[in-house]
Amino acid sequence: MAVHKQRRYRELAEQFAALLAGEPDLIANAANLAALLYHDLAELNWAGLYFARAGELVLGPFQGKPACVRIAWGRGVCGAAAAQAEAIVVPDVHEFPGHIACDPASRSELVVPLVERGRVLGVIDLDSPLRGRFDEFDRAGIERLAALLVAHQRQYPDSLAGVG
Ligand code: SME
Repeated sequence: MAVHKQRRYRELAEQFAALLAGEPDLIANAANLAALLYHDLAELNWAGLYFARAGELVLGPFQGKPACVRIAWGRGVCGAAAAQAEAIVVPDVHEFPGHIACDPASRSELVVPLVERGRVLGVIDLDSPLRGRFDEFDRAGIERLAALLVAHQRQYPDSLAGVG
């Protein structure tokens, strides 16, 4: 299972690197990342990004039902992961104080910050209708994809204007 997951995330990283190649636009790259995650990972009801803008998180490209547009820094799972610049795995969102329920179907959640030299640019957020859907291998796999996106966009500083 763990080996299978690790291989799957390795393949996802390769696919994402191929999609990124030569493309500076942050929104386009984030949109493809959301689509890749939503369609390739099992048991998700939402996959997307929020970007840090003027001290709050603002909804970016995603797949799934419409979601809350603005999240205050430190609020919910997304805001908490952004504030601490650390990924958060929530096995059961009903037990996470302050969880923001965008889709009542969501039961577990994984949020990984996009960190560029200590600056939080935003987060990748995954939701699942299954309790305990995400483990440390998912966290490591998504952190790898987050690092790929940040390293890529760093080559195009203009693409990060107004973010973070
Ligand atoms: N549940 C998140 C809000 C974003 S939606 O899940 C898409 C949170 O608590 O931060």
